[in-house]
Amino acid sequence: MAADEHPLLKPALGRLNGKVAIVTGANSGIGRATARLFAREGARVVCCDIQEATEPRVDKLIEGDGGKALFARCDVTKQDDWDRAVAAALENFGALDIVFNNAGGGIRKLIHEHTDDEWNFILNLNLNGIFRSARAVMPHFLKMGRGNIVNTASTFGLLASEKYPAYCATKAAIVNLTREMALDYGPKGIRVNCVCPGSVETARFRGVPPKATGEFTEEQRARMAAANKALLRMARPEEIAYGVLFLASDESSFVTGHALVIDGGQTIDA
Ligand SMILES: NC(=O)c1ccc[n+]([C@@H]2O[C@H](COP(=O)([O-])OP(=O)(O)OC[C@H]3O[C@@H](n4cnc5c(N)ncnc54)[C@H](O)[C@@H]3O)[C@@H](O)[C@H]2O)c1
Repeated sequence: MAADEHPLLKPALGRLNGKVAIVTGANSGIGRATARLFAREGARVVCCDIQEATEPRVDKLIEGDGGKALFARCDVTKQDDWDRAVAAALENFGALDIVFNNAGGGIRKLIHEHTDDEWNFILNLNLNGIFRSARAVMPHFLKMGRGNIVNTASTFGLLASEKYPAYCATKAAIVNLTREMALDYGPKGIRVNCVCPGSVETARFRGVPPKATGEFTEEQRARMAAANKALLRMARPEEIAYGVLFLASDESSFVTGHALVIDGGQTIDA
């Protein structure tokens, strides 16, 4: 039998009992670990992704754990897909309490070398995806008078990283959009927070499943680990998932507009 891909997940405490969550980018990396943790903690999870290739698909992984989930093919940049994902939550699970806007990515290139398509692709994925999420989700949250949103930003939304202009710009935008949305919707009972991970061992780096792509050399990997300056290793996706769980659960009921840095010390010195 294959080794458990998330060995750091602990026995459940029921921290999301009765909740329904949408997780985007759910079939890989941080999203996959978080969807699995949410389900372990009692949530029913709508797992949104544009790819189903990672085996077992995340909803099957969750069902194998004894949890409840469904897979929704949802491109976060498309409003119709978002509307369908929200409808899937309400129709299948009768509620929607938590949205984890996690799908994202970047292209390493100097800004003047970007094509229009590349630039717009990253802005659309990382930033407009959250706009489209809000348009689909907020009417429901406002009607309920409660709701919880967690966004995935990055330490590269707080610091610069070379040749990563669209990524750094959009991740910084997510940090401040999180604050702005927290301000607008807090009085309505809706909390909005984000996580800022340092480098994390996700599909690009890890063994099966999800499969590593071989895109990174050992030397690059070592450099990424060293960048998390105090702990000198990359995070496991589960270590980000537990931060998301805190923000998504009622344990953080007085926390909103916050950017939770989970970075092994990457950002602690000058
Ligand atoms: N891995 C890191 O070191 C790191 C560090 C900081 C922040 N992040 C952020 O964490 C988030 C998740 O990254 P990851 O490392 O887990 O990546 P990953 O590549 O392992 O997973 C991303 C998932 O998102 C899906 N996705 C891509 N475009 C999508 C779209 N338009 N709609 C729906 N799903 C889509 C992909 O199919 C994939 O399954 C991203 O926002 C990323 O910027 C990652």
